[in-house]
Amino acid sequence: MDALQLKQLVAQAALKYVEPNTVLGVGTGSTVDCFLDALAAAGIPLKGAVSSSVRSEKKLREMGVPIVDMNDVTELSVYIDGADEIDPAFHLVKGGGGALTREKIVADISRQFVCIADASKMVGVLGKFPLPVEVLPMSREAVARKLTALGGQVKERAGFVTDNGNLILDVSGLAITDPVAMEQQINQWPGVVTNGLFALRKADVVLLGTPNGVETRS
Ligand code: A5P
Repeated sequence: MDALQLKQLVAQAALKYVEPNTVLGVGTGSTVDCFLDALAAAGIPLKGAVSSSVRSEKKLREMGVPIVDMNDVTELSVYIDGADEIDPAFHLVKGGGGALTREKIVADISRQFVCIADASKMVGVLGKFPLPVEVLPMSREAVARKLTALGGQVKERAGFVTDNGNLILDVSGLAITDPVAMEQQINQWPGVVTNGLFALRKADVVLLGTPNGVETRS
C-alpha cells in the first residue's frame, strides 16, 4: 500500500468520529484532504465547520459545508487533523503545512482531538521532523538566535507566509525529550506566535494507517 492509500484508509476510519448535524473542527494537510474527500463521499450532513486554514476552508466551501467563525462557538465536540510526528504519549509535532497556529487554537476548544496519520509518523522521541515555529517578521533573527542556543539548526521557510501574515522557522536537530517544557519555553519568547509542539493539548485518539489496516490508539 502506498502513502496515499494509507491516508485514505485512516481518512475513512475517521468518519465514525464525525457527529452528524454538528459543527466539526477541521485541520489541514494531505491526510485531512483525504478525510474531506471521504466525508463528501459519505454525505454526512454537518451544521458547519471551524477550519484551521484557508486551504481547508476552500475545500469545505466547495463541498457546501458552511464555514463557522470560531468566535461564534464556545466548544467543538470533535477536531480531526493530521500530524508530522507522534510520540507514544500522543504529543505531536505539527505545522509542516504552516497552519500550526490556527490548528492549535481549534484543537484547544475541542473536547476530542482525533489525529489521523500513516504509521510512518510514529516516533519514539519527537524532533527528527524539523519543528516549525511561527514568528512575527520583525522577531525572526532574535528568535532564531534563541533556537540556535537551544541546540537547533534554524532555517527560515523560503518564500512562505502563514495565513496570519507571519514567517515560519523550521528547527532541526532538537531531541525533544520533554515536549511540554519545550512547548512552554519557546512560546514565551517575544515574537513567537506559537510553535508546532502539541503537548499541552495533545491528541486524544490516534488513528494510524498501516499495511494491515487501521490501528486505533487511545
Ligand atoms: C499542517 O500545518 C500540519 O500540521 C499538518 O497537519 C501536518 O503537516 C500533516 O500533514 P499531512 O497530512 O500532509 O502529512
